[in-house]
Amino acid sequence: MKAAVCERYGPPEVVRIVEVPPPTPRAHEIMVRVHATTVSSGDWRVRSLDLPRGFGPIARLALGLRGPRQPILGTELSGVVAAVGSEVANFAVGDEVIAFTGAKMGCHAEMVCVVGGGAVIHKPARLSHAQAATLGFGGTTTLDFLRRGQLQPGEQVLVNGASGTVGTAMVQLAANLGAIVTAVCSTRNVPLMHYLGAHYVVDYTTTDFVAAGMRYDVIADTAGTAPYARCRDALTPTGRLLLINAGLDQMLSAPWTTRRHGHRVIVGTAAERVEDIEMVASLASAGRYTPVIDRCYPLDEIVAAHRHVETGHKRGSVVVVMR
Ligand SMILES: NC(=O)c1ccc[n+]([C@@H]2O[C@H](COP(=O)([O-])OP(=O)(O)OC[C@H]3O[C@@H](n4cnc5c(N)ncnc54)[C@H](OP(=O)(O)O)[C@@H]3O)[C@@H](O)[C@H]2O)c1
Repeated sequence: MKAAVCERYGPPEVVRIVEVPPPTPRAHEIMVRVHATTVSSGDWRVRSLDLPRGFGPIARLALGLRGPRQPILGTELSGVVAAVGSEVANFAVGDEVIAFTGAKMGCHAEMVCVVGGGAVIHKPARLSHAQAATLGFGGTTTLDFLRRGQLQPGEQVLVNGASGTVGTAMVQLAANLGAIVTAVCSTRNVPLMHYLGAHYVVDYTTTDFVAAGMRYDVIADTAGTAPYARCRDALTPTGRLLLINAGLDQMLSAPWTTRRHGHRVIVGTAAERVEDIEMVASLASAGRYTPVIDRCYPLDEIVAAHRHVETGHKRGSVVVVMR
């Protein structure tokens, strides 16, 4: 089978399409013939080792010294079950599924084995494989941060970096949870934010959301341009700051900021929960969540997909279509 492999850290061109032996499912696994996957900001960060401030040296220990220990990147997929291990009861050959492998990666291949009882669900019939492949990365990240931020219906939420994968999920899921959402994005993405259900939109190229004088119960920053020092005066007294893109210094100082100023600063790697993918899939199936796709590339052009993701200005998700 074909797979995109990344054996050393570097620019998009380090990713190569090669023939590798297909995996064999173990007793508790299913093998999925992949129809669509994504190149996410997570894939870009692992491939390039371009990480939030302070994480470089630690990352080599965790991911691999010269290149990723898992050379096949890709955190999410949609496809069709091609084989089922003897202990798997909830899936059958031919089922359409969505899987989120998260930090384990491995989705940039024609065939992928995933644990039958893991982060894998049946694909809603209403969604295409390309749409379904985009639900895991933004959805699980958003729901984990919103849960830790204890978002309540009726609260004011501001999403900075609202037009990327996590941002488009955050705008829609916060609105679905009953929040009043302000989206911060660049000019070209303003109409998209209204379409996704944002109540207010701030164009960061012309307006500083802090200078506008509003206060928010929750500020979520995916862009890395809204640190606590900038957001402090834009938070209500019980406000929470979700730093999805936090550097090591922000992670270490978060508990201290919370103790000193009373604002909770929430950081860290998002938990990967199958219930969260189920929730996003069920909202999408009901027409209450729109998977936003920026561009689709065939597997053979995955290097171009990496180049686009690396700009930091994609709109929603970048999909790789296998068939
Ligand atoms: N903590 C975790 O577990 C976790 C999980 C997932 C992702 N992440 C991190 O979260 C970040 C976002 O991920 P993503 O996949 O959503 O990335 P993405 O799709 O590339 O989105 C980034 C967005 O930031 C916007 N942006 C750029 N400059 C901006 C500025 N000055 N002000 C406001 N917005 C700006 C861009 O919109 P415009 O084009 O409109 O500028 C773009 O849509 C990444 O750094 C990723 O590593 C962390």
